[in-house]
Amino acid sequence: MSDCIALVPAAGHGSRFGAATPKQYLPLAGRPLLAHTLDVLCRNAAISRVAVVISPGDEWFDSFEWPQPKLEVLRVGGPSRAESVAGGLAALAADADDWVLVHDAARCCLSDGALQRLIDSLRDDAVGGLLAQPVADTVKRVNPQGRVAATVPRDGLWLAQTPQMFRAGLLADALRDAANPAITDEASAIELLGHAPRLVEGEAQNFKVTWPQDLALASAILAARKG
Ligand code: C5P
Repeated sequence: MSDCIALVPAAGHGSRFGAATPKQYLPLAGRPLLAHTLDVLCRNAAISRVAVVISPGDEWFDSFEWPQPKLEVLRVGGPSRAESVAGGLAALAADADDWVLVHDAARCCLSDGALQRLIDSLRDDAVGGLLAQPVADTVKRVNPQGRVAATVPRDGLWLAQTPQMFRAGLLADALRDAANPAITDEASAIELLGHAPRLVEGEAQNFKVTWPQDLALASAILAARKG
């Protein structure tokens, strides 16, 4: 059976978050946020390796303890998320048939159940796919004056989450031009090759910590699970 390898891009600076420390290292329930993200990946029995991609100039990673088993550190982050993933993928030296699950460092509340559902749903898939959620709210397009230009029909619209799970060989092909700004996640790169990734139902709790107020929500979710 092919291996499942988790690849966690964590080379961003979290500019929207606005803190001096990149958000993946901010304290959350007594540990760096990234440690919670790595926990769920490390304890999944189907995942044999968990590789985190940090920036070559990262000044924070080595100041923490990372007790997670299976963990590998790849100091090959690039200027964009896609370039960090491409660099990590090259450094992994995985077999072309291995499954790679790319998961945002900042999605620290992924549940064991959603992760397992993704793996079980895609193990035999020809292309691979991603966790995602149907859009629940009414969607507005805004004009430059901050007024509604249009209401966008939400039928068939889903929000992409991570992990995004593809074979290492296909993903490496798709990310050959990782600097292409049209590549905003792994699935978009696979789509540019003409494939149609499968959507697997994700969960609202698997949100990406983006704004300072998101930390309190993440903390409450983690505490409720421990409870
Ligand atoms: O900035 P954003 O939250 O969209 O980033 C998503 C993920 O990609 C984060 O885990 C971030 O650390 C990572 N990233 C990266 N290299 C970059 C930019 C973002 O690994 N150059």
